[in-house]
Amino acid sequence: MEEKKASANEYVIIKAKQDGVNVIGLTRGSDTRFHHSEKLDKGEVMIAQFTEHTSAIKVRGEALIKTAYGDIESERKNSHIDK
Ligand code: TRP
Repeated sequence: MEEKKASANEYVIIKAKQDGVNVIGLTRGSDTRFHHSEKLDKGEVMIAQFTEHTSAIKVRGEALIKTAYGDIESERKNSHIDK
């Protein structure tokens, strides 16, 4: 069986469950900062990779996130109040 390299060009799929979900790319290296923010409306999908420039991805808002490690849902703060 072929061995899986860590972060070997794997894709992360993010599907927004509400308007205004932010998918934020954070830089690789000693300086960790935002380098890109993509806004998704409900139902929109972004397919992204970890790259030479991107070591982490932050999702703000309610979304379904599918990765090679499993699926997870991000939630929004105070979702019980502003629904
Ligand atoms: N130019 C960025 C890069 O190559 C584009 C990118 C890739 C990105 N993955 C991302 C932006 C995830 C936001 C989130 O790294």
